[in-house]
Amino acid sequence: MRVCVIGTGYVGLVTGACLAHIGHHVICIDNNADKVALMQSGQSPIFEPGLAEIMQAAMQAGNLEFTTDLGAGVAHGEILFIAVGTPALPTGESDTRYVEAVARGIGSHLNGGYKVIVNKSTVPIGSGDWVKRIVLDGVAERQQTIAGFDVVSNPEFLREGSAVFDTFNPDRIVLGSNSTKAIAMMRKLYAPIIARRFAEDPFLLPVPVVETDISSAEMIKYAANAFLATKISFINEVANICDRVGADVTQVAQGIGLDSRIGKKFLQAGIGWGGSCFPKDVSALIHTAVDYGYDAQLLRKAVAVNERQKLIALEKLQQVLKILKGKTIGLLGLTFKPDTDDMRDAPALILIEQLNRLGAKVKAYDPIIAQTGMAHGLSDVKVESDAVQLADGCDALVLITEWQSFRKLDYAKLGEKMISKIIIDGRNFLDPEVLTASGFQYIGIGRPT
Ligand code: NAD
Ligand code: UGA
Repeated sequence: MRVCVIGTGYVGLVTGACLAHIGHHVICIDNNADKVALMQSGQSPIFEPGLAEIMQAAMQAGNLEFTTDLGAGVAHGEILFIAVGTPALPTGESDTRYVEAVARGIGSHLNGGYKVIVNKSTVPIGSGDWVKRIVLDGVAERQQTIAGFDVVSNPEFLREGSAVFDTFNPDRIVLGSNSTKAIAMMRKLYAPIIARRFAEDPFLLPVPVVETDISSAEMIKYAANAFLATKISFINEVANICDRVGADVTQVAQGIGLDSRIGKKFLQAGIGWGGSCFPKDVSALIHTAVDYGYDAQLLRKAVAVNERQKLIALEKLQQVLKILKGKTIGLLGLTFKPDTDDMRDAPALILIEQLNRLGAKVKAYDPIIAQTGMAHGLSDVKVESDAVQLADGCDALVLITEWQSFRKLDYAKLGEKMISKIIIDGRNFLDPEVLTASGFQYIGIGRPT
């Protein structure tokens, strides 16, 4: 099928490359000319495992192109994906200005045969109708006769760091529309993925497709992220109680997670949830509720628990080092999770800010930032190029991001470089016995020391 993806960030680029990989002819549009030039040369502007490889293969097969020319993309696509960002406004509401600009752009170029316009961006409930009206206004301004279009809400559930895998192996595909024609086209588009042609296990049942109305599809996306974020806040709250009573939250998570009604995923206690989506999406849902006169108390508490949790490493540093002024703290990892270069809303940012406020000196080593040289406006932290340099002169280390390579570090060697051998494991990721054997005082989150 002929596809146009507008906005080539984490979602748009992965979606475009994966659809091209399964044989569709995809044109990806971005209004950032530098980004487009980079992608035209076969390079990915983001770090995402496997992405550059499938991008390059699809480009070589002639299935994937990049341009800034929206008109060309709209003319090409039978299916037009809107995949631009919807960041939080300072009020916490969703900033839909980029979606609006794209919808206007589509309206001013729409021509030719029937098209399906797909909201892939996470957008407030009601955006499907709103996008339709904006596109219709653009068409009317040009007094153009068009063959018609429908809007589909097709929210994205991929995780950064495993975005390509998640796209080929989704738990479900959600299609919200009142048009059977549009739904049929979307099913055709995703047919190879629905049939699990790319699954590692060929005996799995087909991917469930949830066909629903637009508002319910939009709500499914917010509810999913809000549930997952709340689940993490829940286990973090349990971890904080474990700390006080001397229980081990990793054992507790295993014990409750084996109950299939609870499930073992997303029960990893730590320094709080961050990233480009949980914080903004939970906040946007709380604001939607307010707009309709409802106080979403549980969600507000999930956010409050998370705000506190982002300071848990600071609390533990103060317990063990007492005065932080003049001390040197080394952060192992900076990104909000491993296997991504994304720093948006990373819990590390809050910790760095607070450590600086208290007069500590902050250093950090993150493998992806060392590799790419991208320090993303990290002015209050000295970014080191390896873990040994990081450890040099530190009073304590804090593990922020659970990069696999951190399990393989020579902690005895790191310890030799440090003033005091203390490590706060902000993700309960390391083996306490290994650290203790290397002479460290190991402090986890919700784990007895
Ligand atoms: P992003 O910020 O990484 O990328 C957005 C891209 O859109 C940028 O490259 C930007 O230059 C481009 N853009 C902005 N305005 C444009 C315009 N008028 N025309 C063309 N291009 C334009 O965003 P993202 O992380 O990919 O998120 C996109 C959407 O998907 C958001 O609504 C987000 O909530 C949702 N989402 C994100 C993830 C994720 O893991 N990042 C997962 C699921 C859903
Ligand atoms: C999340 C969702 O998992 C995706 O389904 C969704 O599509 C995406 O948001 C989105 O809407 O953008 P992502 O933010 O990439 O994906 O990463 P997650 O793996 O969900 O982690 C989010 C945050 O929660 C990270 O800071 C992570 O460290 C934290 N987390 C996750 C925990 O603290 N404990 C856990 O058990 C799991």
